Amino acid sequence: MSEKASGIGAKVSDAAIGEIDEIGIGMLGYAFMGKAHSNAFRKIAYMTWPPPLKPRLVAIAGRDEAAVAGAAQRYGYERWTTDWRDIVSDPSIGLFDNGGPNSLHAEPTIAAAEAGKHVLCEKPLGRDADESYDIWQRVAATGVKHLCAFNYRFVPAVRLAREMIDAGDLGEIRHFRGRYLQDWGDDPSLDTWRFDATAAGSGALGDLGAHVIDLARFLVGEISTVSALVQTFLPGRSVDDAVEAAVAFENGAVGTIEATRFALGRRNAFQWEINGSKGSLAFDMENLNELHVFRADGDRARGFKKVLVSEADHPFWEFWWPPGHIIGWGETFVHEIHHLLGAIKNGTDVAPYGATFEDGYRAAEVCDAIVRSGANGQRETVTYR
Ligand SMILES: NC(=O)c1ccc[n+]([C@@H]2O[C@H](COP(=O)([O-])OP(=O)(O)OC[C@H]3O[C@@H](n4cnc5c(N)ncnc54)[C@H](O)[C@@H]3O)[C@@H](O)[C@H]2O)c1
Repeated sequence: MSEKASGIGAKVSDAAIGEIDEIGIGMLGYAFMGKAHSNAFRKIAYMTWPPPLKPRLVAIAGRDEAAVAGAAQRYGYERWTTDWRDIVSDPSIGLFDNGGPNSLHAEPTIAAAEAGKHVLCEKPLGRDADESYDIWQRVAATGVKHLCAFNYRFVPAVRLAREMIDAGDLGEIRHFRGRYLQDWGDDPSLDTWRFDATAAGSGALGDLGAHVIDLARFLVGEISTVSALVQTFLPGRSVDDAVEAAVAFENGAVGTIEATRFALGRRNAFQWEINGSKGSLAFDMENLNELHVFRADGDRARGFKKVLVSEADHPFWEFWWPPGHIIGWGETFVHEIHHLLGAIKNGTDVAPYGATFEDGYRAAEVCDAIVRSGANGQRETVTYR
């Protein structure tokens, strides 16, 4: 007896979704980023229908057996493992997602790419420029798609800013002012891999500063020199607590980059401002749906205007709600992973809107130059291999 094709009682047959190819997902890490990425994988088909590829959550890896088993059940993975190599060798997995600590980015990500899997790796790509360069080169040699998870490129207001800058709305860019401020670091009793130089590479610099550097590159251009102060406030801590850098861009713009985990009261304040010859843009992560726009166009009522970036024709808004029904930080991962799945499905480039591993490497060169400048007190040139 055949099933009813429509009407009450009709069954959504496998054929109905079978037209969209699946991609098996293998996730490393189940904590902060593991949760954020898994949440995005689960939402993509529902919110962006039809998705480029339909994520199938195949396996998740972690160290603690009970915790990773619990995460697999909660996030909806079919299997779990305490050895990430099980994911790398699983032929049903097409995309490897690395949400592990920085010291665990290189080996699993390279192994997954060499096993033919597309790779998504959290930022910073490596613990320094050497390691990041090696990851980029070895993964690029395999021909798989690679994306470094600088997710703030996928905030609608940030993409709109990029589109306005590309269209010449700001004229010639003169200043970039970016700061990423958090406040949880001022606690000597805290024990996390983020304070261990071997596991993290650097402190606030790689954790938060790398995001600012990536957005500076994304919105303004390549950074050529840096003059920096790098400070560790708590005795015995092996990584930086704060960095302050003055930077010059290849296109003649100048800027500042600041990152700290000691700005009391600033919970997750990623703020930037860009000034050009025709206007300015300003953004604050704590008001993620807003872009502040000033146009020096002779309008007598000119001043900074708050644009609520939620119109139907605004970036990514085709996935969401009617205008004004705002979205949040977690949705940046939906946009980012959707972009990567589109590149995998259609053979398109991850760049320029997504950060590739080359972008991850280039951000690491700027981070290394900041470290050198902080140590020697000199202005350092950023050289790219
Ligand atoms: N894009 C962003 O906005 C953003 C935000 C936070 C963190 N990050 C980056 O994401 C990465 C992870 O950070 P997090 O905050 O999720 O860290 P976390 O400490 O919350 O989670 C790390 C995860 O890695 C797992 N892990 C550690 N060693 C492992 C091993 N040997 N085998 C398997 N799993 C192992 C842990 O079990 C845990 O699930 C870092 O590189 C960090 O810089 C990015």
